Formats: sequence, C-alpha cells, structure tokens
Amino acid sequence: MRQAERALFDLRRGLSILMRDLDRAFVVCAVEGLDDAVPGEMQALAGSPANLVLSGHRLAAIGRQGAAEAVAVALAPLPDAAALRTLAWQRGASLPAGVALRDGGLEYLLISPAQIEIRAGGRWRCERAVRADTVELLDLFLPWVAAPGRLAIAQLGQSLDGRIATESGASHYINCLEARTHLHRLRALVDAVVVGVGTVNADDPQLTVRHVSGRSPVRVVLDPRGRVRADAKLFHDGAAPTMHVVGEHVAPVCTAGAERVVRVGLPVGADGFEPDVVLEWLAQSGCRRVLVEGGGLTVSRFLRAGALDRLHLLVAPLLIGSGRPGLVLPAVDTLDEALRPPCRHFRCGSDSLFDLELGGLATAQA
Ligand SMILES: NC(=O)c1ccc[n+]([C@@H]2O[C@H](COP(=O)([O-])OP(=O)(O)OC[C@H]3O[C@@H](n4cnc5c(N)ncnc54)[C@H](OP(=O)(O)O)[C@@H]3O)[C@@H](O)[C@H]2O)c1
Repeated sequence: MRQAERALFDLRRGLSILMRDLDRAFVVCAVEGLDDAVPGEMQALAGSPANLVLSGHRLAAIGRQGAAEAVAVALAPLPDAAALRTLAWQRGASLPAGVALRDGGLEYLLISPAQIEIRAGGRWRCERAVRADTVELLDLFLPWVAAPGRLAIAQLGQSLDGRIATESGASHYINCLEARTHLHRLRALVDAVVVGVGTVNADDPQLTVRHVSGRSPVRVVLDPRGRVRADAKLFHDGAAPTMHVVGEHVAPVCTAGAERVVRVGLPVGADGFEPDVVLEWLAQSGCRRVLVEGGGLTVSRFLRAGALDRLHLLVAPLLIGSGRPGLVLPAVDTLDEALRPPCRHFRCGSDSLFDLELGGLATAQA
C-alpha cells in the first residue's frame, strides 16, 4: 500500500517518461491538476500535437475519479537523447541519469523514478507497485503510443445482445459518455479512421476528435459502389482530410466536396475491397495506424481477413433485442472453431471494454 502511494505520489509530482523507438519519439508526462494549457505547452516544446491526453478534470467530467493524469506527445522530428532530456527538464520533471536501452529492436530512453520499463508492443513493467487505475490507463493506451510500425485496431460499441444499432439504423447512443470518450481517444491515436458507407449514410458522422485533445485522423469511407449520401458532413466540413474509396471502375454518384475530398479507386473482388489492400494503400499514403470504426459489416470483413491487430468491444448494459448486428462471421459447426483471442477487460463508465488481441487472426473460412 505504501509503495502504491509512493508511486502515485511520484506520478502526481510530475514525473515524465521519455521514450524513443526506432520510428518515433514521445513524452508521457503525468501531471497534477492538468489543465488545457499543458498539452499546448507540451505541443509547443515537442513540435507536434499531443496524441493522447488524459487529464484529471476530463476524467472527472465523465465520472471517473481518481485516475492518474497523463499526456503523451509524439515528437517530430525525432530528437536526439540530449533534446529529449532538455524537454523533460523544461517540463520540470526530476531527472536522474537517463538510460538508453534496446529491447527486441525497440530502442527507448527511460527516465523514470518509478522505474517503468516499456517494452516492444507497449507492454510495461514497474518495479514498484502502481495504483490499479493507473495500471489500467497505462495498459490500455501504452500499446498505442509505444508500438512502432503498422497497426490496425477496430472498435464496436454494442448492446449486451450484440447489436450496434436499431433496425432503422439508430445508434445514438448505445454507449455511455466514457466509452464515447474512449472512442475519441482511439481516433486521436491513429492516422486514419475507416468506416463503411452504411455508417456514413445512417449516421452522417464527423469522425473528428472532440471529447479529448488531439488531432483528428484522416477520414476514409469505403464505398465500392459509390452510393454515399451527397450531403455527408465529412465531405463538406473540412474538419480533417477525407478519402472516398470507390470501386476502381465505378464513377461515384456523389461528387460532393470534390475539391476537399480525395477520391481513390481500388479493385473490388467477390468480397469487396481486400482489407489488406486498403491498409497497404493507406500505409503508402502515410497512414500506418488505422482505426476501423464500423459498422458491423466493415469490421467483420477486416476481422475475417485477418487484417486486425486489436478489437475494442465496448459493451453497454442494454438489451435491444433486434437491430443491426455487430460482428457477423461465417458459421462454424463446433465451438472449437470459435475465435478465442487473448482478452483483457476494463471498466469504462457503466460499460465494459473488452480489448482483444487479434494479431492478424483470420477466421478459418476467410
Ligand atoms: N455502435 C457502433 O460502434 C457503430 C459504429 C459504426 C456504425 N454503427 C451503426 O452501424 C450501422 C451501419 O453498419 P453496417 O454494418 O450496416 O454498415 P457499414 O459497415 O457501415 O457499411 C457496410 C458497407 O460498406 C461497404 N464496405 C465496407 N467494407 C468493405 C470492404 N472491405 N469492401 C467493400 N465494401 C466495403 C459496403 O458497401 P456496399 O454495400 O455498397 O457494397 C458495405 O455494405 C449504422 O446504423 C450505424 O449507426 C454503429
């Protein structure tokens, strides 16, 4: 208990964790009483927007008391070790001698009185006890800020009986505010967010980051037949770069926002766009971290193809009894054939978050 209190005290004192991997460098800074000025200050120092902000008052506003505060800022361009140290000093963190370590291809700088060691893939270990809610936050988010390379994560917000919308397509709101805030954090942590045309036509979403600080990702609409609604907000609002992916031989019915929206033609096979082709094309376009946000058909296709690294299922204590299904995969005869990926679960307000590690798991019938 004493150790936990001590670790928490260290975190609250403004301990900074500075990390560098082969691709990117970033600072994770825990601060007391974080206000909106701090991410801006961090951003100015780092030269790039914060990609994760979990502030005490934001968490309190959504009913999550007592959680640790943290800011993670991706640094661009990659500074050297001296620049990282300077940055930590500028944040006023107490800084013992920094140690540069290599672990499985991941190079990082670790400067932390709490001795938090961050490994490839975002796993971490701390020699001291850390409070449970701090553990949850680091568990949940560090994989996103720590893992180098490409990553595809999907999310679905669903009822207990596996529905993501009513029969008529209404999905606002299945999930509680904290779960929706979690979704915005995911958006803030990726380069691109992908949705199927069904979601755009039903919800007319903005797909921007609003509940947390952070940059809105590139918005990507999969629309093989070019049937998206012409008045879709994301084609007109200019809030973030937008890509409209249609079948390569399809002339889109909707040419709205032609000057703001990048239209791309990709090959369409029997099962639509090949998810790996979509992800490869996005990576080539500079979007290596992708959130497949929905709906059910789109996430199911990516899962079936083995294209997802992670799936976040946000389950609300709600029974709809009818409506649009979340995941739909090819039928299996026995439960031995069902997918049983490693799974962690977290409380997320009144909802439960299931974090499934898929690692490119494909269904047998894919
Ligand atoms: N609760 C949540 O988390 C959540 C999230 C998002 C959406 N929603 C809800 O879900 C509903 C829409 O979901 P949905 O499952 O019906 O539709 P959807 O997944 O949004 O869109 C499906 C359509 O997108 C196109 N598409 C997706 N992946 C493709 C691929 N790999 N290749 C080719 N085309 C692809 C296809 O268009 P074509 O049909 O033209 O071939 C497909 O029919 C809405 O009611 C929305 O409110 C809920």
